[in-house]
Amino acid sequence: MSHFFHLISVVALLFIQIGHSNDIDGKPILVHGAFTPVEVWGDVDHRLTQAGYGRVFPIRLPSVGTVTSGRQPDIDAVRSTLAAELASGKDVVLVGHSYGGTVVGEAVKIFRADAAPSIPVRRSLLYRKYARPPPRGKILGLIMLSSYIPYTTEVTVPGSRPDIRSIAPSWFNFANMPKVTPDGDPALPPRTLFFNDFSDIRIAFWSPKFSFSAFGALNATATYIPYTGDFQCTYVVTDLDNTVPPAWAQSFIDQPGAVWSVEHVHASHYSMISKPDDVARVIKKVAGDPCCV
Ligand SMILES: *[C@@H]1O[C@H](CO)[C@@H](O)[C@H](O)[C@H]1NC(C)=O
Repeated sequence: MSHFFHLISVVALLFIQIGHSNDIDGKPILVHGAFTPVEVWGDVDHRLTQAGYGRVFPIRLPSVGTVTSGRQPDIDAVRSTLAAELASGKDVVLVGHSYGGTVVGEAVKIFRADAAPSIPVRRSLLYRKYARPPPRGKILGLIMLSSYIPYTTEVTVPGSRPDIRSIAPSWFNFANMPKVTPDGDPALPPRTLFFNDFSDIRIAFWSPKFSFSAFGALNATATYIPYTGDFQCTYVVTDLDNTVPPAWAQSFIDQPGAVWSVEHVHASHYSMISKPDDVARVIKKVAGDPCCV
């Protein structure tokens, strides 16, 4: 009798396994931007999960709402999930929104494309801490969603990056250092700056969930540029964006040596809330999902 139940459970297990084998291989890791709560990914996460992606990984960046020093805590938050997925044989797609693109770009530094890491990298403490056993999954692509990212010169010309306080747009508020908030320009309230394609109800819902960002994270200098050939990179321009407006986005895309696939979404800066289907479609495309390639 117990053999019979054992058989039933084995068959049930097989069924579950087969069910899971329909999962799209390409686990999305979603990285929010400055000032932003991780909950912004809710609708995109839901759509991807419904579409068979199994687990989706929205990452909560420590530099939002706590005073962290430097960018490393943010990078580590992405890297630990990334390393775990790669090590378990899963392919991943990384999505960085706004400042999150900067974090993603730095996080992948030790996992350059499919190549086996060089001996110095393998000997490095970082690699030994995060990347052993050697990664087996692949990084299918990086998506920079309306991203504020380092220009290539930030890495190729050391010392060229000024303090962000001297180059930041008017709406950055540095009056409460080391906390930075996005309320520095009365002419650009959240409904104009961030949520210009949201209903009033949505603006009222989301505005209080935003917080400060730690200056040290925003003002850190990049040490690696992922979009000059090491990885498949897609830049998503959000056409109604008042935070990283299309002309600014284009200045990242048009740099000498930059290699991008470019997508457009007709949305404000928070496209993952106002146009989650369009954002999910780009992620599926980069994941190689037959629906969208
Ligand atoms: C911000 O970064 C710049 C460039 O690296 C540096 O010179 C400056 O000291 C930093 N600002 C602060 C307050 O740490």
